[in-house]
Amino acid sequence: MRLSLRFVLPLAITLAAIAYAVIPLVDRFTLQWFVRDLDIRTALIANTIQDPLQEFVREGSRGKVLRFFDRIMQDERLFAVGFCDLSRKMIYKTAVFPASITCAGDDGEAVVSESRLVNLQRGPIHVAMHRVESEGTAYGYLILVHDMSFVQRRSDDTKKYIFYLFAAIGAIVSLVTVVIAEISWRGWVAGLKAVIRGEAFGRGDMKVHLRELRPVARDLQALIRDLESERRARDESQINWSADTLRAILRNDLKGEEVLIVSNREPYIHMRRNERIEVQRPASGLVTALEPVMRACSGTWIAHGSGNADRETADSTDHVMVPPERPAYRIRRVWLSKEEEAGYYYGFSNSGLWPLCHIAHTRPIFRTSDWNAYVTVNRRFADTVVREAKTADPIVLVQDYHFALLPRMIRERLPEATVISFWHIPWPNAEAFGICPWREAIIDGILGSSILGFHTQFHCNNFIDAVDHYVEARIDRETYTISYGGDQTAVRRYPISIEWPLNSKTMQKPLGECRADVRKRNGLAADTAIGIGVDRLDYTKGILERFLAVERFLELEPEWIGKFVFVQIAAPSRSSIDEYQNYDARVRALARRINDKFSNKHHEPILLKIEHYDPDEVYEYYRAAELCFVSSLHDGMNLVAKEFVATRDDERGVLVLSQFTGASRELPEALIVNPYNVDQCAGALKAALSMPPAEQRDRMRSMRGLIQEFNVYRWAGRMLLDAGQMRMRSRLFARADRGRKPVPLRSV
Ligand code: F6P
Repeated sequence: MRLSLRFVLPLAITLAAIAYAVIPLVDRFTLQWFVRDLDIRTALIANTIQDPLQEFVREGSRGKVLRFFDRIMQDERLFAVGFCDLSRKMIYKTAVFPASITCAGDDGEAVVSESRLVNLQRGPIHVAMHRVESEGTAYGYLILVHDMSFVQRRSDDTKKYIFYLFAAIGAIVSLVTVVIAEISWRGWVAGLKAVIRGEAFGRGDMKVHLRELRPVARDLQALIRDLESERRARDESQINWSADTLRAILRNDLKGEEVLIVSNREPYIHMRRNERIEVQRPASGLVTALEPVMRACSGTWIAHGSGNADRETADSTDHVMVPPERPAYRIRRVWLSKEEEAGYYYGFSNSGLWPLCHIAHTRPIFRTSDWNAYVTVNRRFADTVVREAKTADPIVLVQDYHFALLPRMIRERLPEATVISFWHIPWPNAEAFGICPWREAIIDGILGSSILGFHTQFHCNNFIDAVDHYVEARIDRETYTISYGGDQTAVRRYPISIEWPLNSKTMQKPLGECRADVRKRNGLAADTAIGIGVDRLDYTKGILERFLAVERFLELEPEWIGKFVFVQIAAPSRSSIDEYQNYDARVRALARRINDKFSNKHHEPILLKIEHYDPDEVYEYYRAAELCFVSSLHDGMNLVAKEFVATRDDERGVLVLSQFTGASRELPEALIVNPYNVDQCAGALKAALSMPPAEQRDRMRSMRGLIQEFNVYRWAGRMLLDAGQMRMRSRLFARADRGRKPVPLRSV
């Protein structure tokens, strides 16, 4: 209504002003018209009565003249008639002839055929005097007085009608304006709502409004995205991210919806050692990150049952509750034959995709038999997801490169599911990726995801470029959304992290004790400086480069010989693959060579531990070390770097970190190095060992602050919140438009 008033009020005021100006004008013009009419009329009367009047005047019959005048006066507007002789003396006049009217002009001259308006008390009159002639000889003046009060009456009527006319015009124009404004307003509101919902260039009738809004639609959407991400960032940073926060998100934002995780590696592996069954926690960044999330969320974790005691510890439906000491969620184990594992895991995943995605100069091997096993195993996991899902629309978190085909397979079977895929390793540039013989099938499979996450924006960009190169898809580079085959996938950066604070009994052990115990256990003097490296024994981790840097450091700084030890924990990994066996041999050989070069009988500079260590043991080494050296040749994130920082509640210790890890983007306070540059790395080791405590504290404090703020609960929480937002929107739109696909995320 207020909107309508905004149109109607100015219109009414304008019309009133026009009417106010027009009415006197009209009044004046009508008066002039009437006077002109009367002039013509009086001339006509004068001409008509000249002859009879001349006779009556000549006869001198007063009675006849006055009767004649009375007859003329029957015209209702003629008010009085008079006759003056040539000397302008009034001789005859009708009874009501106004006394103030005479035949003399103001200037004493004769006034012939001159009319004028005279205002009397009774109202205006029109006076016209005509010379009366007969055969060219004048014999007097005829005065005709007309009553003008009818003009006044007509003027009043005219004013009234003009007023009505303007009022009617005002009402009609207002009505039309209000109706048009209302219709347009509704259209714009609907259009703006569509813009806000992200349908800026939608369908049907919406298109009409959007055409008008198109100039502002993009700006508006960009603004909304900025505001949303600002709000999200603000909201997120105000949250104290913990397991409880995740539980609250699941309860409130996701209304307790079902969460399933799928990964190749299981978080707890049961291994039989003689009579005993041991539970092993694998050396896996993926497990490190997701295990605390799953403890918080409950739900089901579907993974390959790879332990030799996994079958006997699972129930009849292949489930096992974990963690063993305090069960909180369940693992659903999927069994693979030796051949399947060889083709899918050792073959396509780790001899093909792994070297393909890590630019570490190891040639990928692509075998059709491996690919076939990969397809079969992905399908097996898809079957398991469908069987485990209790609802038609679970949230499925698909982890890593082992399952590139799984998102599409799930979407085909559970179209309502929200599939969040996370690719834990780098995504190479489009040319490098293009050598994969099944590149299109891999992209097609991944694009079955609702959300696809990478650790860094660089990897998101590389993926988008690969899509652009190899499949027919519509890429919105503003929202980072890909539309492909009727589905939409939002590509997002979610840098993975670790739990904060670390849930480990080692964190309760005083730092001094950790230092002393580690040195004692390894036969080191109390003042020996320790450098630590913790990895799977993998060629991407740059363990050889790390050892070469240690060698160079000792060459350049010989005073450290005997005073510095580098402890390398290397969990055996993928050892059926030739490349890994070769790497194992080369690592051992290099360690031996360097030890031979610098050792004395009490001391070896490199302590190589190729065995599995549980997290508690690893944390003790972190807490005991002067520095931690992460020298990956290429790494999606690298959680060792974050774990080292998290264990150092004494705010001491230095992180030397490869620039080719995702972590280096988040931890610039580390000493960032190029692992291919041996001298630079040796210099960093020297700088780390001689760094003043205050500088160590400042750097460590800053890194700890970041990891605390961006911990793994926030990583998972952001994905789940995005999934929740996406589900909420698609349900909303499904109500309005059944069958419409989920809309993309705005901004994250
Ligand atoms: O880095 C990729 C990744 O899947 C990590 O998430 C994990 O740390 C590692 O590989 C585990 O490898 P695997 O399961 O083959 O031992």
